[in-house]
Amino acid sequence: MAQLFFSDEQSFKEIEVDLWHEMAKSLAKSSHPFRYPSLATQSEEGPQQRTVVLRSVKSTAKELWFYTDGRSAKVQELAQDERAAVHAYHPRKKLQLRFKGSVKVLKSGEKWQEAFDGIPKNRYFEYSTQKAPGTGLDEVPEAYPSQPEQAAQYFRLLIFKTDQLEALQLNANRHFRVLFSYSQKELRQAQWLQP
Ligand SMILES: Cc1cc2nc3c(=O)[nH]c(=O)nc-3n(C[C@H](O)[C@H](O)[C@H](O)COP(=O)(O)O)c2cc1C
Repeated sequence: MAQLFFSDEQSFKEIEVDLWHEMAKSLAKSSHPFRYPSLATQSEEGPQQRTVVLRSVKSTAKELWFYTDGRSAKVQELAQDERAAVHAYHPRKKLQLRFKGSVKVLKSGEKWQEAFDGIPKNRYFEYSTQKAPGTGLDEVPEAYPSQPEQAAQYFRLLIFKTDQLEALQLNANRHFRVLFSYSQKELRQAQWLQP
């Protein structure tokens, strides 16, 4: 068994700091599995989840930042219900993270501007296709035309704020599962769970 990312030999605080640090580490390494978590929302038909690129980690504020097109289904779903969950799994470390919280969808303001200014112009097409994401197409090439000058109009910054973070460390003989609960950005409770 490879070295464990966490176990009961560390304090809750040490584990919690390490988990946020590992999330943040993924930002600098495109092959890191935490770079591509799954974001879950609720739709009228039930739960929905999709892969997103992790764009920023604010460990102090317990925030995860994502980017998207404001016309996408997830944005409509978050307008109805801001509750969301983020899931990530690191196969080599055998470490699963489950974040529970809520998402604020930003389309202006200082944080939005900072995020938008960081996008290379040659990626504007990701936020400015002529057709809204999810639109049915008669022909695939209909998907290509974009209107880069509209990118600022459609670009959305999603700020996921964590209420709870649960981590599961798989281990051949003895798994470890821990739950951290936050309120007003502060760690309020930490507890081992039956895995
Ligand atoms: C590796 C990978 C990274 C992705 N990153 C993003 C992203 O950062 N933002 C985004 O909106 N969609 C991203 N997508 C596409 C989404 O998974 C999804 O297909 C799209 O956003 C439409 O989702 P929705 O209809 O639920 O809104 C990514 C897909 C993959 C496979």
